[in-house]
Amino acid sequence: MTQFKIDILEGLKANQKRLSSKYFYDAHGDELFQQIMHMDEYYLTQKEHEIFENHKDKILKTISDGEPFRIIELGAGDGLKTKVLLKHFLESGADFTYTPVDISGNVLAILEKSLKEELPNLNIEAYEGDYFDALAEISESPEKDVVFFLGSNVGNFSHEGAVSFLTNLRNALKPSDLLFMGVDLKKDPSLILSAYNDAQGITREFNLNLLDRINRELNGNFDRNQFLHYPYYNPHTGECRSYLISRVRQEVTMAGEAISFRPWEAIFMEISKKYDDMQLDLLARESGFELVKSFYDQESWFVDVVWGSLG
Ligand code: AVJ
Repeated sequence: MTQFKIDILEGLKANQKRLSSKYFYDAHGDELFQQIMHMDEYYLTQKEHEIFENHKDKILKTISDGEPFRIIELGAGDGLKTKVLLKHFLESGADFTYTPVDISGNVLAILEKSLKEELPNLNIEAYEGDYFDALAEISESPEKDVVFFLGSNVGNFSHEGAVSFLTNLRNALKPSDLLFMGVDLKKDPSLILSAYNDAQGITREFNLNLLDRINRELNGNFDRNQFLHYPYYNPHTGECRSYLISRVRQEVTMAGEAISFRPWEAIFMEISKKYDDMQLDLLARESGFELVKSFYDQESWFVDVVWGSLG
């Protein structure tokens, strides 16, 4: 049985049904996420881009005193924003290699091709695999590593999940290595909600695509019209959660198994957590990091932090 099948069946048989957002990213899901990053409502990409444009030189000086280093980018995607930094680092004569890591070989190939055209002097060694394979790779390098974890990808974890992931990361790092992480911040809830409930319905499509993927890969018969996309933001926890809710009583089969839904029963699809400074401090401490420097956009909607190993 594939891990995909195991996870999907386990999630849908649970008392509170859930699917993992890490499975959003098949070829069509990659395309949809590209579209999301270009939406007006999806401020995250715009704000992180602004931070990179405005602070690229300070960022370079914070991560390197001139010694050679390697950038390992977890979940690199199309690397559009990262290019701003890579270009500036090259022009400043920094001595570094770039290792983008992504589970989608499709996305990595596109990234490698565009980087070779746009930044021919860049030393690039792409790595296809999940974050944990990449972490094993990190521990073996002799040079200074700077791990990039951008775009508020950390928001896909609950607080406990983030602590456990970042603790593993920190344990794989050498004492002088650094983490450079982009984090979406708490703000007017209506702005957050519309980023996950866009007028064109692209985010809705992004969620429903996982039902289509299950139909395709596990021979399922989900009827996407029978599910309602419902994002919900909790200003206390900072969690924006997306659900697909069954409009009717229905039975769906996949991989030869039947899953029944009561009317208005929900599937929990994704968490996109927003932090404030206090919660972020706590996250650093609990996972063995300390803050080196923070870079904000003009409105403080988003932050990129540099963290080093504590102690
Ligand atoms: C790629 C995880 C940062 O949670 O904001 C975008 C994914 N989901 N719209 C996010 C996503 C719905 C995104 N991350």
